[in-house]
Amino acid sequence: MLKNILDELTLLYSKELSFVKSNFPKEDTIILKHLKFIVGKLEKLKNQLEIIEIKSETKPVVSYLSQISLENKADDYKMIINHLKKLKDKLFWRYGYQAPSQEMIEKYAYTEIIGPEGPIYSEEMIIGFVLLAPDFYYPKHRHSQIEESYLFLTGKTIYNKQAILAERSFILNKAGKVHELKSDSDQATLILYTWINKGAGSLKDYQLNLE
Ligand SMILES: [Fe+2]
Repeated sequence: MLKNILDELTLLYSKELSFVKSNFPKEDTIILKHLKFIVGKLEKLKNQLEIIEIKSETKPVVSYLSQISLENKADDYKMIINHLKKLKDKLFWRYGYQAPSQEMIEKYAYTEIIGPEGPIYSEEMIIGFVLLAPDFYYPKHRHSQIEESYLFLTGKTIYNKQAILAERSFILNKAGKVHELKSDSDQATLILYTWINKGAGSLKDYQLNLE
């Protein structure tokens, strides 16, 4: 199952990379570097797959996964969402904040698929899912040493009060950039996120802080 997820992630990020390459062949963008790094690491992981035991822990927001419809979704999105639905009870869902608000406790959680804490072991990169219940405001936050990207698997989500992002949107938050999200009022938001370490510290146990 995890091996399949790795293949699906490789497919999704390779597609993003070819999209950027073919549409902006002359541009040397940060997004291009970011995607090249991810695809390179994913290819490496396929040859050196190390699965580690994780504890499973759910959170209230996980119940919204069943409401995410697969109808009208492209096959690559269908596959990965379906996999997540099947795996959800075996994963470690967390908040990452020391004192999450009651709203966060009820309407938000994330889970790592690749990272220093597994289940697919990697020290240099984290890939996981963020799930927001409908009508949830994810407050301003930043991660000082970490470059982050969001690939939106569902739509529509308001980003930094400036853009409405549809399914398949790809956003990069440079290390230290403040960002905030607001999910649609009647559907949950599911995001595939990546973290690439840009500092000297470890990605393990990185503590998130709201602004
Ligand atoms: Fe973030």
